Amino acid sequence: MEASQLSNEMTIQSHKGPYKVFFADNPFADLEQEISGHKHFIIDAAVARCFQKELAPLLAHHSTLIVEAEESNKSLERMPDYVAHLIDAKIRRGDTLIAVGGGIIQDITCFLAATMLRGLDWIFYPTTLLAQTDSCIGSKSSINVGSVKNILGTYTPPKKIKIGLEFLKTLGEDEIRSGIGEMIKVHIIDGQRSIEDLARDYDNLLTCRATLSAYILKSLMIKKRFIEEDEFDTGTRNILNYGHTFGHAIEAATAFGIPHGIAVTIGMDMANFLSFRTGLIDEQTFYKLHKVLHTNYSKFASVVIPLDSFLVAIMKDKKNVGQKMALILLDGSGQVAKRLFEKDQFFQETCRVFLQEIILQH
Ligand SMILES: NC(=O)c1ccc[n+]([C@@H]2O[C@H](COP(=O)([O-])OP(=O)(O)OC[C@H]3O[C@@H](n4cnc5c(N)ncnc54)[C@H](O)[C@@H]3O)[C@@H](O)[C@H]2O)c1
Ligand SMILES: [Zn+2]
Repeated sequence: MEASQLSNEMTIQSHKGPYKVFFADNPFADLEQEISGHKHFIIDAAVARCFQKELAPLLAHHSTLIVEAEESNKSLERMPDYVAHLIDAKIRRGDTLIAVGGGIIQDITCFLAATMLRGLDWIFYPTTLLAQTDSCIGSKSSINVGSVKNILGTYTPPKKIKIGLEFLKTLGEDEIRSGIGEMIKVHIIDGQRSIEDLARDYDNLLTCRATLSAYILKSLMIKKRFIEEDEFDTGTRNILNYGHTFGHAIEAATAFGIPHGIAVTIGMDMANFLSFRTGLIDEQTFYKLHKVLHTNYSKFASVVIPLDSFLVAIMKDKKNVGQKMALILLDGSGQVAKRLFEKDQFFQETCRVFLQEIILQH
Protein backbone atom coordinates (compact mmCIF):
# COMPACT_ATOMS: atom_id res chain seq x y z
CA MET A 1 0.00 0.00 0.00
CA GLU A 2 1.33 3.44 -0.89
CA ALA A 3 2.21 5.78 1.97
CA SER A 4 0.06 8.59 0.51
CA GLN A 5 -3.01 6.44 1.11
CA LEU A 6 -2.29 6.00 4.77
CA SER A 7 -4.03 9.08 6.08
CA ASN A 8 -6.37 8.34 8.97
CA GLU A 9 -9.38 10.29 7.82
CA MET A 10 -11.36 10.94 4.66
CA THR A 11 -14.25 13.17 3.59
CA ILE A 12 -17.32 12.00 1.70
CA GLN A 13 -19.54 14.42 -0.23
CA SER A 14 -23.31 13.83 0.02
CA HIS A 15 -26.57 15.61 -0.80
CA LYS A 16 -26.64 16.73 2.85
CA GLY A 17 -23.09 18.08 2.70
CA PRO A 18 -19.71 16.52 3.50
CA TYR A 19 -19.14 14.03 6.30
CA LYS A 20 -15.94 12.57 7.66
CA VAL A 21 -14.65 9.09 8.38
CA PHE A 22 -12.01 8.93 11.13
CA PHE A 23 -9.89 6.07 12.40
CA ALA A 24 -10.10 6.15 16.22
CA ASP A 25 -7.19 4.84 18.31
CA ASN A 26 -9.45 4.65 21.33
CA PRO A 27 -13.11 4.51 20.23
CA PHE A 28 -14.25 3.94 23.83
CA ALA A 29 -12.74 7.25 25.00
CA ASP A 30 -14.28 8.99 21.97
CA LEU A 31 -17.68 7.48 22.76
CA GLU A 32 -17.43 8.62 26.37
CA GLN A 33 -16.81 12.16 25.17
CA GLU A 34 -20.00 12.04 23.11
CA ILE A 35 -22.15 11.57 26.22
CA SER A 36 -24.56 14.44 26.81
CA GLY A 37 -28.25 14.99 27.48
CA HIS A 38 -28.86 15.45 23.76
CA LYS A 39 -27.32 12.21 22.56
CA HIS A 40 -29.17 8.90 22.31
CA PHE A 41 -27.19 5.66 21.91
CA ILE A 42 -28.35 2.52 20.09
CA ILE A 43 -25.95 -0.31 20.86
CA ASP A 44 -25.63 -3.87 19.55
CA ALA A 45 -26.35 -6.22 22.48
CA ALA A 46 -23.38 -8.49 21.64
CA VAL A 47 -21.07 -5.47 21.59
CA ALA A 48 -22.49 -4.28 24.92
CA ARG A 49 -21.77 -7.75 26.38
CA CYS A 50 -18.25 -8.05 24.90
CA PHE A 51 -17.17 -4.53 25.93
CA GLN A 52 -19.13 -4.18 29.17
CA LYS A 53 -16.23 -2.55 30.99
CA GLU A 54 -15.11 -0.23 28.20
CA LEU A 55 -18.68 0.88 27.46
CA ALA A 56 -19.77 1.18 31.12
CA PRO A 57 -20.35 4.98 30.98
CA LEU A 58 -22.54 4.59 27.87
CA LEU A 59 -24.46 1.69 29.34
CA ALA A 60 -25.30 3.87 32.36
CA HIS A 61 -26.50 6.78 30.20
CA HIS A 62 -30.19 7.78 30.50
CA SER A 63 -30.84 7.18 26.79
CA THR A 64 -29.15 3.97 25.73
CA LEU A 65 -31.10 1.37 23.82
CA ILE A 66 -29.61 -2.12 23.59
CA VAL A 67 -30.77 -4.14 20.59
CA GLU A 68 -29.94 -7.73 19.60
CA ALA A 69 -28.56 -7.63 16.03
CA GLU A 70 -31.19 -9.86 14.46
CA GLU A 71 -32.94 -9.26 11.14
CA SER A 72 -36.33 -9.46 12.93
CA ASN A 73 -35.31 -6.44 15.02
CA LYS A 74 -34.43 -4.43 11.90
CA SER A 75 -38.09 -4.25 10.97
CA LEU A 76 -41.05 -1.92 10.69
CA GLU A 77 -42.80 -4.07 13.30
CA ARG A 78 -40.14 -3.23 15.93
CA MET A 79 -39.94 0.51 15.16
CA PRO A 80 -42.72 1.50 17.61
CA ASP A 81 -40.66 0.12 20.53
CA TYR A 82 -37.61 2.18 19.54
CA VAL A 83 -39.69 5.32 18.99
CA ALA A 84 -41.39 4.84 22.39
CA HIS A 85 -37.98 4.52 24.06
CA LEU A 86 -36.77 7.75 22.45
CA ILE A 87 -39.97 9.58 23.41
CA ASP A 88 -39.49 8.41 27.01
CA ALA A 89 -35.91 9.70 26.81
CA LYS A 90 -37.40 13.09 25.83
CA ILE A 91 -35.91 13.28 22.38
CA ARG A 92 -35.96 16.77 20.86
CA ARG A 93 -35.18 18.40 17.52
CA GLY A 94 -31.45 18.99 17.35
CA ASP A 95 -30.65 15.80 19.29
CA THR A 96 -28.31 13.17 17.81
CA LEU A 97 -28.57 9.38 17.57
CA ILE A 98 -25.35 7.38 17.92
CA ALA A 99 -25.15 3.84 16.52
CA VAL A 100 -22.62 1.37 17.94
CA GLY A 101 -22.83 -1.92 16.05
CA GLY A 102 -22.81 -3.55 12.62
CA GLY A 103 -25.09 -3.07 9.61
CA ILE A 104 -28.24 -4.02 11.51
CA ILE A 105 -27.77 -1.33 14.18
CA GLN A 106 -26.72 1.09 11.41
CA ASP A 107 -29.94 0.49 9.45
CA ILE A 108 -32.16 0.86 12.54
CA THR A 109 -30.46 4.07 13.68
CA CYS A 110 -30.27 5.59 10.21
CA PHE A 111 -33.96 4.88 9.56
CA LEU A 112 -34.98 6.42 12.90
CA ALA A 113 -32.75 9.46 12.23
CA ALA A 114 -34.33 9.90 8.80
CA THR A 115 -37.90 9.83 10.05
CA MET A 116 -38.13 11.01 13.68
CA LEU A 117 -38.95 14.68 14.09
CA ARG A 118 -38.52 14.96 10.30
CA GLY A 119 -34.83 14.28 10.54
CA LEU A 120 -32.18 14.03 13.24
CA ASP A 121 -28.39 13.88 13.00
CA TRP A 122 -26.74 10.52 13.53
CA ILE A 123 -23.18 9.32 14.15
CA PHE A 124 -21.84 5.82 13.48
CA TYR A 125 -19.25 3.70 15.32
CA PRO A 126 -19.21 0.54 13.13
CA THR A 127 -18.20 -2.63 15.01
CA THR A 128 -18.17 -5.28 12.26
CA LEU A 129 -15.57 -5.41 9.48
CA LEU A 130 -18.38 -5.37 6.92
CA ALA A 131 -19.71 -2.10 8.33
CA GLN A 132 -16.23 -0.57 8.70
CA THR A 133 -15.09 -1.44 5.20
CA ASP A 134 -18.33 -1.06 3.28
CA SER A 135 -21.74 -0.17 4.66
CA CYS A 136 -20.71 2.78 6.89
CA ILE A 137 -20.50 5.11 3.89
CA GLY A 138 -23.12 5.49 1.18
CA SER A 139 -26.12 7.03 3.01
CA LYS A 140 -28.45 4.03 2.71
CA SER A 141 -30.82 2.76 5.38
CA SER A 142 -33.01 -0.28 4.78
CA ILE A 143 -35.45 -2.04 7.05
CA ASN A 144 -37.56 -5.19 6.68
CA VAL A 145 -41.35 -5.53 6.65
CA GLY A 146 -42.40 -9.02 7.75
CA SER A 147 -40.27 -11.43 5.76
CA VAL A 148 -39.56 -8.91 3.00
CA LYS A 149 -35.98 -7.77 3.47
CA ASN A 150 -34.80 -4.16 3.04
CA ILE A 151 -38.08 -2.99 1.48
CA LEU A 152 -38.30 0.39 3.30
CA GLY A 153 -35.41 2.79 3.24
CA THR A 154 -33.94 6.23 2.91
CA TYR A 155 -30.75 8.00 1.86
CA THR A 156 -29.55 9.64 5.08
CA PRO A 157 -25.81 10.14 5.54
CA PRO A 158 -24.40 10.26 9.08
CA LYS A 159 -22.68 13.37 10.47
CA LYS A 160 -19.50 11.41 11.08
CA ILE A 161 -18.12 7.87 11.28
CA LYS A 162 -15.47 6.66 13.72
CA ILE A 163 -13.77 3.39 12.89
CA GLY A 164 -12.24 1.61 15.88
CA LEU A 165 -10.30 -1.56 15.06
CA GLU A 166 -10.49 -2.41 18.79
CA PHE A 167 -14.07 -3.52 18.21
CA LEU A 168 -12.98 -6.24 15.76
CA LYS A 169 -11.11 -8.22 18.46
CA THR A 170 -14.27 -10.01 19.53
CA LEU A 171 -15.58 -10.69 16.03
CA GLY A 172 -15.59 -14.31 14.84
CA GLU A 173 -13.53 -15.41 11.83
CA ASP A 174 -16.63 -15.89 9.64
CA GLU A 175 -17.62 -12.25 10.23
CA ILE A 176 -14.05 -11.11 9.41
CA ARG A 177 -14.08 -13.09 6.14
CA SER A 178 -17.53 -11.70 5.39
CA GLY A 179 -16.07 -8.17 5.57
CA ILE A 180 -13.10 -9.26 3.46
CA GLY A 181 -15.62 -10.42 0.82
CA GLU A 182 -16.80 -6.81 0.35
CA MET A 183 -13.14 -5.68 0.28
CA ILE A 184 -12.39 -8.16 -2.51
CA LYS A 185 -15.41 -6.84 -4.40
CA VAL A 186 -14.23 -3.23 -4.58
CA HIS A 187 -10.65 -4.29 -5.30
CA ILE A 188 -11.76 -6.34 -8.33
CA ILE A 189 -13.85 -3.37 -9.46
CA ASP A 190 -10.82 -1.10 -9.03
CA GLY A 191 -8.76 -3.19 -11.43
CA GLN A 192 -6.16 -5.90 -11.82
CA ARG A 193 -3.37 -4.27 -9.80
CA SER A 194 -5.60 -3.67 -6.76
CA ILE A 195 -6.91 -7.23 -6.61
CA GLU A 196 -3.42 -8.66 -7.14
CA ASP A 197 -2.20 -6.58 -4.15
CA LEU A 198 -5.05 -7.88 -2.01
CA ALA A 199 -4.52 -11.50 -3.08
CA ARG A 200 -0.85 -11.18 -2.10
CA ASP A 201 -1.70 -9.62 1.29
CA TYR A 202 -4.70 -11.88 2.00
CA ASP A 203 -3.13 -13.85 4.88
CA ASN A 204 -1.88 -10.67 6.54
CA LEU A 205 -5.41 -9.27 6.56
CA LEU A 206 -6.29 -11.90 9.15
CA THR A 207 -3.27 -11.27 11.37
CA CYS A 208 -1.89 -7.76 10.88
CA ARG A 209 -3.77 -4.73 12.14
CA ALA A 210 -1.88 -2.24 9.97
CA THR A 211 -2.63 -4.26 6.83
CA LEU A 212 -6.30 -4.52 7.74
CA SER A 213 -6.54 -0.81 8.45
CA ALA A 214 -4.87 0.08 5.13
CA TYR A 215 -7.30 -2.15 3.22
CA ILE A 216 -10.33 -0.72 5.05
CA LEU A 217 -9.23 2.76 3.99
CA LYS A 218 -8.50 1.71 0.40
CA SER A 219 -11.89 -0.06 0.15
CA LEU A 220 -13.70 3.04 1.40
CA MET A 221 -11.74 5.19 -1.06
CA ILE A 222 -12.84 3.00 -3.97
CA LYS A 223 -16.48 2.99 -2.81
CA LYS A 224 -16.34 6.79 -2.26
CA ARG A 225 -15.81 7.36 -6.01
CA PHE A 226 -19.06 5.57 -6.88
CA ILE A 227 -21.29 6.96 -4.13
CA GLU A 228 -20.15 10.53 -4.68
CA GLU A 229 -20.88 10.27 -8.39
CA ASP A 230 -24.22 8.47 -7.99
CA GLU A 231 -25.40 8.71 -4.36
CA PHE A 232 -28.97 7.69 -5.25
CA ASP A 233 -27.92 4.51 -7.10
CA THR A 234 -29.42 5.30 -10.49
CA GLY A 235 -26.38 4.50 -12.66
CA THR A 236 -22.67 3.93 -11.97
CA ARG A 237 -23.23 2.96 -8.32
CA ASN A 238 -24.99 -0.21 -9.61
CA ILE A 239 -21.49 -1.58 -10.23
CA LEU A 240 -21.13 -2.05 -6.46
CA ASN A 241 -23.82 -4.70 -6.83
CA TYR A 242 -21.16 -7.00 -8.36
CA GLY A 243 -21.60 -10.49 -6.82
CA HIS A 244 -24.80 -9.39 -5.07
CA THR A 245 -27.55 -10.66 -7.40
CA PHE A 246 -25.99 -14.16 -7.15
CA GLY A 247 -25.08 -13.57 -3.47
CA HIS A 248 -28.62 -12.62 -2.42
CA ALA A 249 -30.01 -15.70 -4.21
CA ILE A 250 -27.42 -17.87 -2.41
CA GLU A 251 -28.44 -16.33 0.94
CA ALA A 252 -32.13 -17.03 0.18
CA ALA A 253 -31.48 -20.59 -1.09
CA THR A 254 -29.57 -21.45 2.11
CA ALA A 255 -32.06 -19.77 4.49
CA PHE A 256 -29.41 -17.15 5.34
CA GLY A 257 -27.03 -19.84 6.61
CA ILE A 258 -24.07 -18.14 4.90
CA PRO A 259 -22.87 -14.68 6.10
CA HIS A 260 -23.63 -11.90 3.61
CA GLY A 261 -20.06 -11.09 2.52
CA ILE A 262 -19.25 -14.79 2.09
CA ALA A 263 -22.35 -15.31 -0.08
CA VAL A 264 -21.21 -12.28 -2.11
CA THR A 265 -17.75 -13.86 -2.48
CA ILE A 266 -19.35 -17.05 -3.89
CA GLY A 267 -21.60 -14.77 -5.98
CA MET A 268 -18.59 -13.01 -7.57
CA ASP A 269 -17.01 -16.36 -8.41
CA MET A 270 -20.28 -17.47 -10.01
CA ALA A 271 -20.61 -14.19 -11.95
CA ASN A 272 -17.01 -14.64 -13.19
CA PHE A 273 -17.76 -18.23 -14.22
CA LEU A 274 -20.66 -16.91 -16.32
CA SER A 275 -18.29 -14.27 -17.79
CA PHE A 276 -15.84 -17.05 -18.65
CA ARG A 277 -18.51 -19.28 -20.24
CA THR A 278 -19.84 -16.38 -22.33
CA GLY A 279 -16.33 -15.46 -23.47
CA LEU A 280 -16.12 -12.14 -21.60
CA ILE A 281 -13.02 -13.25 -19.68
CA ASP A 282 -10.46 -15.96 -20.39
CA GLU A 283 -9.84 -19.10 -18.38
CA GLN A 284 -6.65 -17.76 -16.80
CA THR A 285 -8.42 -14.65 -15.44
CA PHE A 286 -11.26 -16.77 -14.10
CA TYR A 287 -8.94 -19.16 -12.23
CA LYS A 288 -6.70 -16.36 -10.89
CA LEU A 289 -9.70 -14.69 -9.26
CA HIS A 290 -11.20 -18.05 -8.27
CA LYS A 291 -8.11 -18.70 -6.13
CA VAL A 292 -8.55 -15.67 -3.85
CA LEU A 293 -12.36 -15.89 -3.87
CA HIS A 294 -12.32 -19.59 -2.98
CA THR A 295 -9.81 -18.97 -0.19
CA ASN A 296 -12.28 -16.52 1.33
CA TYR A 297 -15.32 -18.82 1.12
CA SER A 298 -13.62 -22.24 1.50
CA LYS A 299 -15.26 -23.02 4.86
CA PHE A 300 -18.67 -22.71 3.18
CA ALA A 301 -17.80 -24.42 -0.14
CA SER A 302 -19.51 -27.65 0.89
CA VAL A 303 -22.75 -26.02 2.08
CA VAL A 304 -25.46 -27.31 -0.24
CA ILE A 305 -26.99 -24.52 -2.37
CA PRO A 306 -30.02 -26.16 -4.06
CA LEU A 307 -30.12 -25.14 -7.73
CA ASP A 308 -33.94 -24.94 -7.87
CA SER A 309 -34.25 -22.61 -4.89
CA PHE A 310 -31.31 -20.58 -6.19
CA LEU A 311 -32.97 -20.08 -9.61
CA VAL A 312 -36.32 -19.14 -8.05
CA ALA A 313 -34.59 -16.60 -5.78
CA ILE A 314 -32.48 -15.00 -8.53
CA MET A 315 -35.60 -14.35 -10.64
CA LYS A 316 -37.09 -12.35 -7.74
CA ASP A 317 -34.17 -9.91 -7.56
CA LYS A 318 -35.44 -6.35 -7.28
CA LYS A 319 -32.92 -5.15 -9.88
CA ASN A 320 -34.34 -7.46 -12.59
CA VAL A 321 -35.81 -5.77 -15.67
CA GLY A 322 -39.01 -7.58 -16.73
CA GLN A 323 -38.08 -11.26 -17.17
CA LYS A 324 -34.40 -10.42 -17.52
CA MET A 325 -31.76 -10.49 -14.81
CA ALA A 326 -29.54 -7.42 -14.48
CA LEU A 327 -26.14 -8.93 -13.72
CA ILE A 328 -22.91 -7.10 -13.02
CA LEU A 329 -20.19 -8.96 -14.89
CA LEU A 330 -16.45 -8.62 -15.39
CA ASP A 331 -15.09 -8.44 -18.93
CA GLY A 332 -11.70 -8.90 -20.58
CA SER A 333 -10.68 -5.26 -20.29
CA GLY A 334 -11.01 -5.59 -16.51
CA GLN A 335 -14.21 -3.50 -16.56
CA VAL A 336 -17.23 -4.46 -14.49
CA ALA A 337 -20.54 -3.56 -16.16
CA LYS A 338 -24.27 -4.29 -16.06
CA ARG A 339 -25.63 -6.82 -18.58
CA LEU A 340 -29.13 -8.23 -19.05
CA PHE A 341 -29.47 -12.02 -19.10
CA GLU A 342 -32.32 -14.45 -19.63
CA LYS A 343 -32.81 -17.46 -17.39
CA ASP A 344 -32.34 -19.76 -20.39
CA GLN A 345 -30.91 -23.27 -20.66
CA PHE A 346 -27.35 -21.95 -20.95
CA PHE A 347 -27.67 -19.80 -17.81
CA GLN A 348 -29.19 -22.64 -15.80
CA GLU A 349 -26.55 -25.11 -16.94
CA THR A 350 -23.78 -22.64 -16.07
CA CYS A 351 -25.21 -22.26 -12.55
CA ARG A 352 -25.52 -26.05 -12.19
CA VAL A 353 -21.89 -26.68 -13.17
CA PHE A 354 -20.73 -23.97 -10.80
CA LEU A 355 -22.78 -25.18 -7.81
CA GLN A 356 -21.96 -28.85 -8.33
CA GLU A 357 -18.33 -28.71 -9.50
CA ILE A 358 -16.48 -25.38 -9.56
CA ILE A 359 -17.40 -24.36 -6.01
CA LEU A 360 -15.57 -27.46 -4.73
CA GLN A 361 -12.36 -26.90 -6.75
CA HIS A 362 -9.48 -25.14 -5.12
N1 LIG B 1 -27.27 0.34 4.94
C1 LIG B 1 -26.38 -0.21 4.17
O1 LIG B 1 -25.73 0.43 3.35
C2 LIG B 1 -26.09 -1.67 4.32
C3 LIG B 1 -25.07 -2.25 3.52
C4 LIG B 1 -24.77 -3.58 3.70
C5 LIG B 1 -25.48 -4.34 4.62
N2 LIG B 1 -26.49 -3.76 5.35
C6 LIG B 1 -27.25 -4.54 6.32
O2 LIG B 1 -26.37 -4.85 7.38
C7 LIG B 1 -26.76 -6.08 7.99
C8 LIG B 1 -25.53 -6.94 8.14
O3 LIG B 1 -24.59 -6.19 8.85
P1 LIG B 1 -23.21 -6.75 9.41
O4 LIG B 1 -22.69 -7.82 8.54
O5 LIG B 1 -22.39 -5.56 9.71
O6 LIG B 1 -23.57 -7.48 10.74
P2 LIG B 1 -24.70 -7.47 11.83
O7 LIG B 1 -25.04 -6.12 12.28
O8 LIG B 1 -25.78 -8.38 11.34
O9 LIG B 1 -23.89 -8.24 12.99
C9 LIG B 1 -23.42 -9.55 12.79
C10 LIG B 1 -23.21 -10.25 14.12
O10 LIG B 1 -22.02 -9.74 14.75
C11 LIG B 1 -22.32 -9.30 16.08
N3 LIG B 1 -21.36 -8.24 16.35
C12 LIG B 1 -21.33 -6.97 15.87
N4 LIG B 1 -20.20 -6.35 16.26
C13 LIG B 1 -19.50 -7.23 17.02
C14 LIG B 1 -18.26 -7.20 17.68
N5 LIG B 1 -17.46 -6.13 17.61
N6 LIG B 1 -17.87 -8.30 18.39
C15 LIG B 1 -18.63 -9.41 18.43
N7 LIG B 1 -19.81 -9.52 17.80
C16 LIG B 1 -20.24 -8.44 17.10
C17 LIG B 1 -23.76 -8.92 16.03
O11 LIG B 1 -24.35 -8.95 17.31
C18 LIG B 1 -24.33 -10.00 15.11
O12 LIG B 1 -24.54 -11.18 15.85
C19 LIG B 1 -27.84 -6.65 7.11
O13 LIG B 1 -29.09 -6.42 7.71
C20 LIG B 1 -27.72 -5.86 5.81
O14 LIG B 1 -28.97 -5.76 5.12
C21 LIG B 1 -26.77 -2.45 5.22
ZN1 LIG C 1 -22.99 -6.38 0.40
